[in-house]
Amino acid sequence: MKTHWLGFLFAVIVISAVVLGKEFPCDLRDTKHGSVCVCNSTYCDYLEQPQLADSSQIVVISSSKDGLRFKKTTGDLSEKKPITVDDKQFTDENFKAEAIVVDEQRAWLQMANIRQRLFINASIKTFKISVKREQKYQNISIFGGALTGAVSHLVKQLPEELQDHVYRSYYHPDGIAYNTVRMSIGGCDFDIAPWAYNEWPRNDEKLSNFTELDPRDLEKIDQLKRLKAVGQLDELKIMAAAWSPPPWMKTNGRWTGYGQLKSEYYQTWALYHLKFLELMRAKNMPIWAISTGNEPLNGVIAFFFVHFMSLGWTPKQQAIWLSDNLGPTIRNSAESKVLIFGDDDQRYTYPSWFEKMNTSRNNSLSYLDGLAVHWYFDDLISPQVIDQAHMQMPNKMILNTESCIGDKPWQTHGPVLGSWQRGEAYMRAYTQDFRHHFNGWIDWNLVLDEEGGPNYVKNFVDAPIIVNATSRDEIYKQPIFYAIGHFSKFLPEQSVRIETRIENQTNPFTQLSVVGFQRPDGSVALIIYNGQNMPVDVVLNDSQRGEIKLRLPPRSWHTVLYK
Ligand SMILES: *[C@@H]1O[C@H](CO)[C@@H](O)[C@H](O)[C@H]1NC(C)=O
Ligand SMILES: *[C@@H]1O[C@H](CO)[C@@H](O)[C@H](O)[C@H]1NC(C)=O
Ligand SMILES: *[C@@H]1O[C@H](CO)[C@@H](O)[C@H](O)[C@H]1NC(C)=O
Ligand SMILES: *[C@@H]1O[C@H](CO)[C@@H](O)[C@H](O)[C@H]1NC(C)=O
Ligand SMILES: *[C@@H]1O[C@H](CO)[C@@H](O)[C@H](O)[C@H]1NC(C)=O
Ligand SMILES: *[C@@H]1O[C@H](CO)[C@@H](O)[C@H](O)[C@H]1NC(C)=O
Ligand SMILES: *[C@@H]1O[C@H](CO)[C@@H](O)[C@H](O)[C@H]1NC(C)=O
Ligand SMILES: *[C@@H]1O[C@H](CO)[C@@H](O)[C@H](O)[C@H]1NC(C)=O
Ligand SMILES: *[C@@H]1O[C@H](CO)[C@@H](O)[C@H](O)[C@H]1NC(C)=O
Repeated sequence: MKTHWLGFLFAVIVISAVVLGKEFPCDLRDTKHGSVCVCNSTYCDYLEQPQLADSSQIVVISSSKDGLRFKKTTGDLSEKKPITVDDKQFTDENFKAEAIVVDEQRAWLQMANIRQRLFINASIKTFKISVKREQKYQNISIFGGALTGAVSHLVKQLPEELQDHVYRSYYHPDGIAYNTVRMSIGGCDFDIAPWAYNEWPRNDEKLSNFTELDPRDLEKIDQLKRLKAVGQLDELKIMAAAWSPPPWMKTNGRWTGYGQLKSEYYQTWALYHLKFLELMRAKNMPIWAISTGNEPLNGVIAFFFVHFMSLGWTPKQQAIWLSDNLGPTIRNSAESKVLIFGDDDQRYTYPSWFEKMNTSRNNSLSYLDGLAVHWYFDDLISPQVIDQAHMQMPNKMILNTESCIGDKPWQTHGPVLGSWQRGEAYMRAYTQDFRHHFNGWIDWNLVLDEEGGPNYVKNFVDAPIIVNATSRDEIYKQPIFYAIGHFSKFLPEQSVRIETRIENQTNPFTQLSVVGFQRPDGSVALIIYNGQNMPVDVVLNDSQRGEIKLRLPPRSWHTVLYK
């Protein structure tokens, strides 16, 4: 059946994104691989939280490959007109490069160096998306990134105003409204050198020399205090994890390689965690959650390619340590309310890691409040393994606790400035995880330099914000930043996922995805991603609102808000 509403596209509300005074749009700069938003000490892009004026208003926030970044389009549902998100591809006659031009039902490709228009005459596809608000799933509560040693080192080199823009961009509601930060207990790979507490004296079971935090921690604490103030956060959730103990506690006596905890230090290693929690609280930076250790398999099987600080565990060993040492030590202390997350490793360890722990110590899982997953092998492993773990442990939170691009041999190491594809990889991954029980996502380094470091083993990767560590006067917000932000900014704590389905998606390779949420104020937030080089028409059928029609530009993603 042919839909007729396309006919009125040209009578459509075209809403200007300019709201006087209040808006700070992206200062878009083209780079070799795409566009970034540039911030300096005096300018940075922000968007006030959109408010829905009344129950007939709809707000669409959009970002696109072609240069939209958090562009706001508003419409009126009572007018029953389709809502078009304008992108310059629709309107600009002076294309610099290849572009897709859309005119009513036709689309054509215009090449920069060919005068003639190359018509492809493709018709624009219509997708039906049903939104069932009554069907509710998990809450979404956690969004954040990591304040590693590398991040701390880079941020402190920036002028104060620019430091504040980093904090505000991530943590303020006008930025992308993170509420959580991850940090290492001791050092991690994104540090200038490996380190731990009580490296000396050796074989010091009682940790007699771990009486205060390291100067590197004190710097991070000052930065976190500033971040909380600039972000206007009442509460900042801090999640901490250890990468490696001092080498004397390990079977191989080294920071890395095949090495596990010597059994005589099981209680010492639990005490080490407790001391860290107590010292952080004493500095008025209490820790919200810890994990049982970063990527335990790095010191068991992955040491062939992982050359940074690690501590190997098998699930059986870890269950013993958790149920005999860490669990009781934390739960019987003044830090008993600190949450404990298990695994903190790749998806391929699910759900067998927990099953093996359970066989080794039948009470070990009772010490865990949550399950932590790293995203690095998500492309190879189906999310069904997460569903299984959730079915076995339905009351435990599930968080993604680390993600970045550029770690694989086949990927460009370090940042690819402006890469929309990398943003799309994040968009697909967040969408998938939230459709599979995740309660939140903590990304990796908040910022990195142009090279993707510093990293003491040169394991360079990308980050949502890249710092110009040469001039120290600019930072670049990557498409990844906006991919994450389309979720984190618009999903305040206590948002709940609701049922959404693309009704007639017959081709599994069609790059259209959706995930929906109900926010605490009752409004709906849908995140829709169009991965095609063509615009698409979307007809939303909301169980309480009826039909809402949208036209979305090529290679774009959107947060659609309505009551
Ligand atoms: C900062 O960026 C703004 C916006 O692009 C620009 O007007 C201003 O001149 C820049 N400031 C400096 C010191 O470069
Ligand atoms: C494509 O559309 C153009 C413009 O309407 C028309 O001239 C051309 O004949 C069409 N080509 C095909 C193969 O339908
Ligand atoms: C979905 O269904 C509508 C009408 O039922 C149709 O117009 C549209 O072409 C379909 N879309 C796809 C991608 O099959
Ligand atoms: C305690 O640790 C500090 C470094 O943090 C070191 O300088 C000092 O020598 C250590 N004390 C002993 C007794 O090893
Ligand atoms: C758990 O293990 C302990 C000791 O191995 C055993 O005594 C107890 O019966 C087990 N509990 C259950 C519920 O299997
Ligand atoms: C742990 O093992 C017990 C049986 O000993 C079983 O009832 C329970 O479902 C298991 N839990 C998980 C999460 O596998
Ligand atoms: C969200 O759900 C998880 C898992 O069921 C639960 O542990 C947590 O307490 C919930 N958080 C909030 C803020 O409701
Ligand atoms: C960093 O700033 C320097 C000096 O202004 C400039 O030459 C360089 O291109 C900038 N780096 C990036 C990645 O833009
Ligand atoms: C919209 O969804 C409802 C169920 O929530 C269904 O009854 C109705 O037929 C749908 N409308 C259209 C036009 O698909």
